[in-house]
Amino acid sequence: MVSEIVLQYPVYSLENKLLLPAGTVLSESVLEELMSRAEDHPGCFLLQYGTVQRDLLHFLSEPPYQIIFHDPQQKMEMLRTMERVYLVLPVLRSLDYFKKYDYHTYRHMLMVFALSEMLAKELISEFHTKEPETISSPTHDIGKICVPLSILMKRTPLTKSEFHLLQHHTVAGYVLASYYLKNIDHIAARVARDHHERKSGTGYPRGTSKVDRMAEIVIVSDVYDALISPRPYRPISYDNRSALEVITEMAEKGEVSWDIVKVLISQNRREKPGIDEFVVSTERRGRNPAGNLHGITVDDDEEERQRIVA
Ligand SMILES: [Fe+2]
Ligand SMILES: [Fe+2]
Repeated sequence: MVSEIVLQYPVYSLENKLLLPAGTVLSESVLEELMSRAEDHPGCFLLQYGTVQRDLLHFLSEPPYQIIFHDPQQKMEMLRTMERVYLVLPVLRSLDYFKKYDYHTYRHMLMVFALSEMLAKELISEFHTKEPETISSPTHDIGKICVPLSILMKRTPLTKSEFHLLQHHTVAGYVLASYYLKNIDHIAARVARDHHERKSGTGYPRGTSKVDRMAEIVIVSDVYDALISPRPYRPISYDNRSALEVITEMAEKGEVSWDIVKVLISQNRREKPGIDEFVVSTERRGRNPAGNLHGITVDDDEEERQRIVA
């Protein structure tokens, strides 16, 4: 049963086709009707598409991923899993769109995918038999095609309404992934919808504490990659230790599960200890990088006032 969500903004395809207008209640019948309008599209293996494989290998060679994936066998296994991912062209074109207009998101989508697959292999028992259900494809942020680039690339604090529109990418991603994959229950669609939820019920869009295990793995990977990567709203990224501390704090607050955090920390160590073989340090030594605007919003009027003053 799909919980009902009301669209606050319209959902458009990359070709600017209106899929659902604002105000639509995402009931099962509305989504089924949308599925019936979905066309068939040819597809391609993800790693054979454009420069994806080359870019991915490049990103994996950069810190901290070169430590996380330093074991050649583990890296090879992850690539073999990714090699089986076959996607329809509109989904692959969304990667082209981000590569061209928002390179941070392009890189982020590939790295969250790689990291999630690696964590899933460690955390989901009998991963090999459940692989098709756990490959959530690099689509978790596909809904950002419905968010103006001026918001995605903004270097000053978002206004409250811009932040509200940014949050729309979860629900838009759910609609887009369901539509292109022709399945409202597809793991990629559920991950797109739920990757900003928290186990404590403090996330969005639904504020639910019940998310799929794979979605929870993507939640941790998403936060981690966002912290360690350069972003328009932050001139300097978090160092690796500080990023792991932020995620440890999330586990302390009950926002994400401890075992996922422990596997992430273990994978950051060259010797990859088992999660029962070490205690996570809760000592805080890292710090929030200077000039970080993440989570800071301004009132709409205030921004207008600042523009006038400037
Ligand atoms: Fe997101
Ligand atoms: Fe993300």
